[in-house]
Order: sequence, then structure tokens, then C-alpha cells
Amino acid sequence: MDTAPTLKIAPNNAAFHTLAADIFMGALDRMQDRAAAKNGPIRVVLPTGSTPLGLYRELIAHHAHRRDLWDRFHYVALDDYAGLAPDDRRLFSNWLDRDILKPLSIPSSHRTIFNSAAPSPSAECARMDALLDESGIDIAVLGLGTNGHIGFNEPGSAFDAQTRLIHLSADSLAANAAYWGGIDHVPHTAYTLGLGHIMQARETILLVQGSHKADILHRMLHDPISTALPATALRRMRNVTIIADQAAISAAEPSPQT
Ligand code: PGA
Repeated sequence: MDTAPTLKIAPNNAAFHTLAADIFMGALDRMQDRAAAKNGPIRVVLPTGSTPLGLYRELIAHHAHRRDLWDRFHYVALDDYAGLAPDDRRLFSNWLDRDILKPLSIPSSHRTIFNSAAPSPSAECARMDALLDESGIDIAVLGLGTNGHIGFNEPGSAFDAQTRLIHLSADSLAANAAYWGGIDHVPHTAYTLGLGHIMQARETILLVQGSHKADILHRMLHDPISTALPATALRRMRNVTIIADQAAISAAEPSPQT
């Protein structure tokens, strides 16, 4: 269970996306037999953010023909803003609809998303947890926040946390401002899956790109495992692959092939 994450380093931007797509498709392939035996779906958590967009373009351009896999693919939301109408373009589910789900013809019956406008947030969280308790996550694709968050599990989040409504930290508000043309457009509350379920994923792929992530990646790999830095939870998980570009590997990284 406690095997160290595998670190894969891409020399440049193009190689980062190709590598991510190859590793992702390999993970889907590995889940296929298990899902087929149960005649069930392959449940995949996907992130938003700028980092995964190249992966999504690569999947659409070069892997869309794998209908055997996409027909079993079932998207599970990692997180999403709370209190928005279903057609709000800022919803992460709508963002992913535009950038990957619709281009790959993933039907709405193969998507488990948050109801952002749910009248009872606690009932909404309980609904998500019940689904995850039953089926679990096959593959979690994750991004790394500059504050070390995973999804919206901000610093201080317990490793056994369940799905919940959170207030975005100042760091996350600032990071999200880049997506929507300013901080005034960023909702202040969001739903996030808890680390409790994320940590049970059968396989996990963490995408880390850019020199602005070098410090947090280094800390994630070397700081004590602690809720103060939620991404250190990945060092307690099975089958974790970290894909980083050269810029994200700090000069201080002594052993890139961990
Ligand atoms: P980014 O976001 O890909 O836009 O850097 C990552 C994250 O906050 O999880």
C-alpha cells in the first residue's frame, strides 16, 4: 500500500501532454478487464485547471478511436463551485463538457456531477458519498494547487474527509481568478470530494507543470506527510504516478526517478 509514487519527467510541453495521455490510456486499459467482468463502468475523476487541457486535447486528437474504453468511461466530478445554475459556464462540469466529455461523446448517463444549485448541500454531499462508497474510484487524475490542495481539499483537510462544501482559500480564489477574468467572478464556495475517497482510488495520476509548481512539488515529495499539505496524502496511496515537466522539477530535486 505504501509504495512511493512513480515520478515521470517530460522534457518539454508537448512531451508532457503525450506522456500524460499514454499513461492515462494505459490506466484505462488496465481497468477495462475488471469493468468488463462486472459489465460495469470505469469510474474516472478528472480535474479542471490549465494543466490538464493539453492531456484532453491529446486524448481527443489521438485516442478517441478507443470506443471500447470510452463506452465504459464514467466521469466522476472531483469538485465544483456551489450555488451556480446548471448552465453556468464556470461550472467545472460544463468546462469539462466543453473540453473533453462532449468531444469524446460521453453521455450524461455516464457522468456523476455535483448539483451546484442543490437546496441542501449536506444532502448533496451525502448523495455523492453514497455513490462513492458503493463503487469507488478506478482512476483519479489530479492537479496540484500551489498551496498543496487536491481538488478543493485545502490545507488542513483531514485525510479521511468526506465530500463537503468548502470556502475557497485566498490562494485558490487567486488561482481561479485566472480562469474567469478576475477574482470578482470566482464563487467563494465549492463542493469537493474528500481525501477519504480520493485516497482509495485504484490508480492515480498527478499532473504538475510549470516552474510555479516546483516548490510545492518538492515539498509534496519531501515534507513530512501532514494535513497541512494535503498533497502529501499521495505518498500514502497505491499506484500513484506523478507526471511533471522539467520546469516543475526544482533544482533541489536530488533523485528525479523516485
Ligand atoms: P492549474 O490548477 O492546473 O490551473 O494549475 C491546479 C489545481 O489547482 O489543482
